[in-house]
Amino acid sequence: MSDRGKIVIGLIIFVLIFTLPMTYNMVAKNKAVGAPELEIPPEAGKECVRSTEYMRPFHMDLLNEWRDEVVRHNDRYIEGPDGAMIEKSLSNTCLDCHSNKENFCDRCHNYLAVYPYCWDCHTTPEETAQPELVVAQQPKEEN
Ligand code: HEC
Ligand code: HEC
Ligand code: HEC
Repeated sequence: MSDRGKIVIGLIIFVLIFTLPMTYNMVAKNKAVGAPELEIPPEAGKECVRSTEYMRPFHMDLLNEWRDEVVRHNDRYIEGPDGAMIEKSLSNTCLDCHSNKENFCDRCHNYLAVYPYCWDCHTTPEETAQPELVVAQQPKEEN
């Protein structure tokens, strides 16, 4: 009956390895989850680039549109909600105003298990503040 011990140990090892991705998710991911918190810096302006009703479901489409217009046509500016020109920029416009990326963008994305890969290249406010921080903030995931 000496095999029984080995089987039990084998099973324990199997379960540990099998659950590793879930354990990793629980421990390693930025855990900020929940309702997005608005903390807009006073100098950044008050209004989002489009209405909340539009932004909530469609902000990723707007970002894609901006990216295509900038990268393909060098068309970098658009009229903002108050008539002033704003830059079509993820870091310079969205994150200038939503500078609390962790409590705004990340909270909502973590809750929904969406991990945009944009930050592999685009800088976040913390990175701008501390230039030595070059590692991506979130685990790289294809989606
Ligand atoms: C000048 C400031 C400003 C800029 C620039 C800005 N936003 Fe907003 N954003 C806001 C404000 C203020 C609200 C909340 C409006 C409200 O409470 O109804 C908001 C709302 C949102 C929402 C909806 C949040 C919710 O509660 O569902 C999303 C998503 C969003 N913004 C993403 C973006 C993205 C992406 C960009 C860049 C393309 C951007 N914002 C640019 C100020 C800004
Ligand atoms: C492999 C690197 C890389 C990744 C990943 C990436 N981008 Fe970009 N993005 C660029 C480069 C390079 C430009 C051109 C910058 C310029 O000309 O100002 C750009 C430009 C943009 C622009 C317009 C200019 C600006 O300042 O923002 C937007 C909007 C944008 N990308 C959105 C996104 C979004 C949204 C994602 C994630 C879904 C993303 N990008 C992922 C490299 C990347
Ligand atoms: C109210 C919740 C909420 C907030 C706040 C929010 N997002 Fe999103 N985001 C989503 C949802 C939902 C998706 C779409 C998931 C899908 O379609 O798979 C998404 C998707 C995205 C995508 C596309 C990801 C991909 O891989 O296609 C980008 C880019 C993005 N968000 C950027 C931002 C940025 C930048 C902010 C902060 C300025 C932000 N989001 C704030 C809910 C939110």
